[in-house]
Amino acid sequence: MNIILLGPPGAGKGTQAEKLVAERGMIQLSTGDMLRAAKTSGTEMGKKVAAVMDAGELVTDEIVIGLIEEKLEGEQGGGFIFDGFPRTLAQADALGALLEKHGASLDAVIELAVNDEVLVTRILGRAAEAVAAGGTARADDNEESLKTRLMAYYKQTSPLIGYYHAKGALQSVDGLGAIDEVAVAIAGVLDA
Ligand code: AP5
Repeated sequence: MNIILLGPPGAGKGTQAEKLVAERGMIQLSTGDMLRAAKTSGTEMGKKVAAVMDAGELVTDEIVIGLIEEKLEGEQGGGFIFDGFPRTLAQADALGALLEKHGASLDAVIELAVNDEVLVTRILGRAAEAVAAGGTARADDNEESLKTRLMAYYKQTSPLIGYYHAKGALQSVDGLGAIDEVAVAIAGVLDA
């Protein structure tokens, strides 16, 4: 099965993807993680995207589509969880074409439905926890960048809800419950 986890920052995409990896052996493809790894290792691409990411804006379609293309070339089989990708209509079209090229299909797009209040609490809570544990918060986990991230979601990513609904692929899950409750709801969609 190949699925997309769709939702705003803090909706729980990464958290639920990790559970699916552990419980079902699926493969998580998180463009956010790939970009942060590039930033940390100081590659040319990492340097190029650092300021954009820290401000909470979207990196160019060309870069993220290239990252996903590379991963799909390197992995055999399927069972992909696309986490944080696609985030624009151009990325969604590119993913469709890439899957087709590999003879694969998209089985479900799971929207984690939440509200802004919860997102702000979760993201700022994660930043506070990181600092309390003696570490540093993610560079974009602050009020200013979060506003930009949310705006990018509403302007550039939320149109994908209509896009995948029209393709008959969209399934919405309540993302406001406890982590395990959300996982049960996702399992219900995957096992249906
Ligand atoms: P990315 O890394 O994808 O971040 P994001 O989507 O903005 O936000 P999160 O990862 O914080 O959200 P999440 O939904 O995964 O929630 P999580 O499980 O972590 O992207 C970062 C940046 O990279 C972007 O801003 C952009 O610059 C760039 N980028 C990435 N992909 C791109 C693309 N395709 N195109 C262009 N640019 C791209 O949970 C958050 C917190 O909430 C955690 O503390 C968690 O423990 C907690 N939590 C989760 N679920 C629950 C729950 N049910 N109840 C209580 N707490 C919960």
